[in-house]
Amino acid sequence: MLGNYEEFKKAVYQLIKLDLNAYKERQMKRRIDALITKHKITSYTDFIQEIKQNTVLLDEFVNYLTINVSEFYRNPDQWKVLEEEIFPQLLKANGKSLKIWSAACSTGDEPYSLVMCLSKFVPLSNIKVIATDIDKQIIEKAKKGEYNEKYIKGIPQEYLTKYFNKIDDKTYRISDEIKRCVEFYRHDLLKDPYPEGCHIIICRNVMIYFTEEAKTEIYKKFNESLKKDCYLFVGSTEQIIQAQELGFKSHKSFFYRKL
Ligand SMILES: C[S@@+](CC[C@H](N)C(=O)[O-])C[C@H]1O[C@@H](n2cnc3c(N)ncnc32)[C@H](O)[C@@H]1O
Repeated sequence: MLGNYEEFKKAVYQLIKLDLNAYKERQMKRRIDALITKHKITSYTDFIQEIKQNTVLLDEFVNYLTINVSEFYRNPDQWKVLEEEIFPQLLKANGKSLKIWSAACSTGDEPYSLVMCLSKFVPLSNIKVIATDIDKQIIEKAKKGEYNEKYIKGIPQEYLTKYFNKIDDKTYRISDEIKRCVEFYRHDLLKDPYPEGCHIIICRNVMIYFTEEAKTEIYKKFNESLKKDCYLFVGSTEQIIQAQELGFKSHKSFFYRKL
């Protein structure tokens, strides 16, 4: 037993304004306990003292909270809908300068996939994607843009040839012309202000970690962030049950149009 988890959550909030109450408790507590034990710390109180002084451990803690796994063109069928239906429709209605936000972008696979996908219709000089995540370490990784071959297996061959350089046996680096189209920021979906006037928001495989209350709040804020008739793109297991009540209409399960 590491101590009182309720007190621990309060202390974390006081220290870094991260609201652990918004995450599903059992899963989150299990991960945190494993991290603390790995560092041979025996109580929540000692861990809090430690992260107050040790910024490396603090960053590791935030990094450890959720799984950072991502992948280029994860669920290719859904990206096909984006490319063949959603982008053409948005470009027709709004012109070439779309405001695109990749929320909880992890290692950057998603925002970079968005740029490549959109480059089919718009010159790279017209493309700007805002990409955010709560995790500083992961954002630095995303900016570097280096990927093991297993994360890029979904990339269409034409983009792989055009926009990636092989830097060793198993690692590829994405080109600077794609990197220049993405602006990375640290952003906490639970408390930071959301960008306004978005044409598309992509937020996948992070809502699974949140409680129902937190999800509802986030969907409401996404809705406010979007322009009318614009889209939220969600993960495979993240269909929004009460879409209509939240001001969305479902389109092919993974896209939600703001009404
Ligand atoms: C499993 S990854 C999803 C990556 C990508 N969206 C995908 O589907 O491939 C989950 C990401 O959510 C981020 N995350 C967790 N809590 C967050 C919060 N409160 N605000 C913003 N990002 C958060 C994590 O740092 C992690 O990078």
